[in-house]
Formats: sequence, structure tokens, C-alpha cells
Amino acid sequence: MDSIADLAKDAQKSGERVGLAFDSIVIDGGVPLRGRIEVRGAKNLATKAMVAALLGDTPSILQDVPQISDVSIVTRMLDAYGVAVTSPEEGVLVLDPTNVERAHFAQIDALAGSSRIPILFCGPLLHRLGEALIPDLGGCRIGDRPIDFHMDALRAFGAIVDKSYEGIRITAPNGLHGANIELPYPSVGATEQVLLTAVRAQGVTELKNAAIEPEIMDLIAVLQKMGAIIWIEPNRTIFIEGVDQLSGYTHRAISDRNEAASWASAALATGGDIFVGGAKQPELMTFLNVFRKVGGAFEVHEDGIRFYHPGGPLKPVQVETDVHPGFMTDWQQPLIVALTQAEGVSVIHETVYENRFGFTDALVEMGADIVVHKDGLESVTRRVPRRKLEQAAVITGPTPLHGADVRVPDLRGGFSYLIAALTAEGRSTVTNLGIISRGYEHFVDKLEALGAQFTLEG
Ligand code: EPU
Repeated sequence: MDSIADLAKDAQKSGERVGLAFDSIVIDGGVPLRGRIEVRGAKNLATKAMVAALLGDTPSILQDVPQISDVSIVTRMLDAYGVAVTSPEEGVLVLDPTNVERAHFAQIDALAGSSRIPILFCGPLLHRLGEALIPDLGGCRIGDRPIDFHMDALRAFGAIVDKSYEGIRITAPNGLHGANIELPYPSVGATEQVLLTAVRAQGVTELKNAAIEPEIMDLIAVLQKMGAIIWIEPNRTIFIEGVDQLSGYTHRAISDRNEAASWASAALATGGDIFVGGAKQPELMTFLNVFRKVGGAFEVHEDGIRFYHPGGPLKPVQVETDVHPGFMTDWQQPLIVALTQAEGVSVIHETVYENRFGFTDALVEMGADIVVHKDGLESVTRRVPRRKLEQAAVITGPTPLHGADVRVPDLRGGFSYLIAALTAEGRSTVTNLGIISRGYEHFVDKLEALGAQFTLEG
């Protein structure tokens, strides 16, 4: 077995591999994307399954792990806690938690960056080490970033949460016991927090109003392989019977439906034809309905889904983002670029996040007609009752897009800028590309494979 120092170096190297050597891409748009690309395991499962490995007594093997920087961050965090992470072959991680140890706070603080994943280390670390430290993710961001559901759940398990100048220190002097928890909203992260904590807590936990995203079901599958007893009841209720011991798992991560939907929207917006190898229909059903209503065509194959623009005008749609099985909030940004090319007025309501339309400003600079209504729109018939946090984007098309210089604001917004630049006539420069590598594996190679015209800049 390699020494911890070697593994730390390996982890560092894997971080460098996914880190991009360039910051900008100059795209000559107007060329339809055509060809085949592959998607691998979902970012939003792989990183959580990696944290789950901390709970086992023996090594876990995770397959189909994408080379993205979020995986690299979690690799380095696990390494800091003494979990030996090796990659015997591309896409496979072996996570050995035999020698879990306390990490230096400064190390965790430096690694965590803007990732949400450190919060999910709480339950496993409390079980393994009796203490968890969550860094203050810069300034007063802990106060501003809502992690209240997470902290309330941990308290319900018997944890003590102390805020310090460094961040949050969580301890469990009397151990963790099963709890009755009802989430105010079916939060993905808070559901994962409860699962990762309850599986080794003493007694039974009842979680009401849980999130039931496919990635959560896959995390439950991982935990069940480890020895957990988890019952999924109707009406978003999950019962978890705590057990004394969990062992390692071998698991192939569920496919990344968000990446698949992103490339699908790229095919539609550019008038192209993309076969997304590894895309799976069941997790994409809601997206596929919308894709078809907009005028896109798709074919479901054994090994993936072909998404293409069949010709003719695109049609406007009304969509609300929602928790599963609704239309995911991560799908709206790429789709909005395609909707700028539809004939008529589309409305997208964002009901999951408070502020997720900021990226549309740059699309407007590129020629799109998008008006954001911060308080939503009363007049539109809604499928679900209004939520307090919501915004509506009204997209009127078709509008030709023209090239511009734009800076990536966040992961999904950033990918939508790539699509806009590929759709636009003329030349665009997209900067701050590193953020896109958080969640899109080898996206530059994929653009090349699909015939995009571009050059990279440092
Ligand atoms: N919320 C609170 N308090 C909390 C936790 C959440 O108010 O303690 C609120 C959030 O502010 C938000 C809503 O609840 O308004 C939903 O947040 P949720 O906890 O469900 O999201 P998350 O776990 O932080 C994950 C994904 C997101 C994805 C959402 C929704 C990961 C690492 N992130 O975030 O993915 O959008 O679920 O499905 O799994 C992405 O991939 O780009 C991404 C942002």
C-alpha cells in the first residue's frame, strides 16, 4: 500500500489533472454540434458516495467516477482525514477508511473552497472521531448560506453545534441517537445529511418531507450495500434503523442526468445532433417531455440517448423548476439558451433557489430578450402553489445571438454561456472556465469531438 504522503501527492495530481491549464475559450459560433460524447457518474452522487466510504470499516470501490474538480476536492478532504484514496484505473476510486484521523483545520479550510460537500462530512466524522469542524466558507457566508436544516437535523440526533471564529464545531459527547425529523423543504443536502448520520445512530430515525432525487436513491443503495437498513415509505418519508457497523461497498455511480440535459440543450440551441452515451431515460423523463414540447427530438438507445434538432421552428414553453420528479433547477440554464431560439414567449419559474437567473444578463448582452421578474408572475397558471422564493424569467424569441465577452458566474450558468457562444453568430470569449470543470468532465475535449470551432487561452 502506498504511504499517506504518496497518496496525498496522487490526490494532488488528480486535482491538477482536472484543473484546467487555461482560463478562456474563444468560440466561433453558428456551427451545429454533431457527434457522440459520453457522460459518466453523476457529480451529485459520486461526491456523496465518497463521503459515505468514511462510514465503513473496510475499503469501498466507486466506479464511473467523473474527473471533475468537485471529486478532486472531496478526494483531498478524505485524504486529509486519513482515508487513502487511490485510482487503480481511470474512473475507479478505492477509498480505504481504515486509518481515519483528525485533520488539521487549516488544511480542511483551504480545501473546502466554495464546495457544499464539507457539510456532509458531519455525521460520518461524528461517528468516527466524535467531532466535526465545518470551515467558515469565507466572510459571513456560513450565516448567509442556509445550512439551518442540516444543523437542526444534527441537533435532533443529539449533536452540539458551536459556532467559533473558524467556523462550526460539532460534537456528540453522548453519541448520536435516532430522531424524528421533518424537513421544512425536501432539501437534497439535508436529506443526505440525515441519511449519512442516521445509518450509524442508535435507534430508528424517521425523516419526513425527504428529497427523493435519483441521486439520493443511489446513495441509499450505496448505504444498503454497506449494511444499512433504510425503508422508503410513500409521501417522502424515510425510516432508517441505525446499525453498529458498516462495511465498504462496490458501486457504479448513477449517470449524470444534469450533464446529459446540458448537452441535449446544446444540440437543440445550435441546431445540432448529439448522441449522449451513458444518458438514461428514467431519470430524464421530465426533461425529455419539455425537450419534446420545445420541438427537440430524441431517440432512446441501449447505450445512451440521441438528442437532435429535427428542423422547423422551436416552440415556447412554461416550466417550473421543482424537486424530483419535477423539472430540475440545474436544467433551466442550458434550456433557456435554446428557448431564445423558440418562436414566442417562454416562462421559466425558479422555485428551488432564490436567485438563479443572474446568468441571464450576459445572454441579454448577446442579443436575447429575457426579462427577470424577481417576485414571480401572478398571471401565469401554476402547477404547484407559489413558494416564497421564486423568480420568473420571460424569454421572447426567436432572437439571433451575437458574440460577446462573458465571464462564467457559476457551474450551470457557465455551461449555458458556452451554448450561447456556440449558437451565436461571430466570436465570443468565455472566461473563468475553471468553474465549469467542477461538474463537466473533459468538456473541452467533448466540444472538440462535436465539431465546435474554438481556441483556448491561458
Ligand atoms: N435550503 C435551506 N436550508 C438548508 C438547506 C437548503 O434553506 O439548510 C434551501 C436552499 O437554499 C434552496 C433549497 O433549500 O433554496 C434547496 O436546496 P438543497 O439543499 O436541495 O440543495 P443542495 O443539496 O445544496 C443539491 C445539488 C445542487 C442542486 C440541488 C437541487 C449537490 C452538491 N448540489 O444542492 O446542484 O441544484 O441539490 O437539486 O448535490 C449543481 O449541480 O450545479 C447544483 C447546484
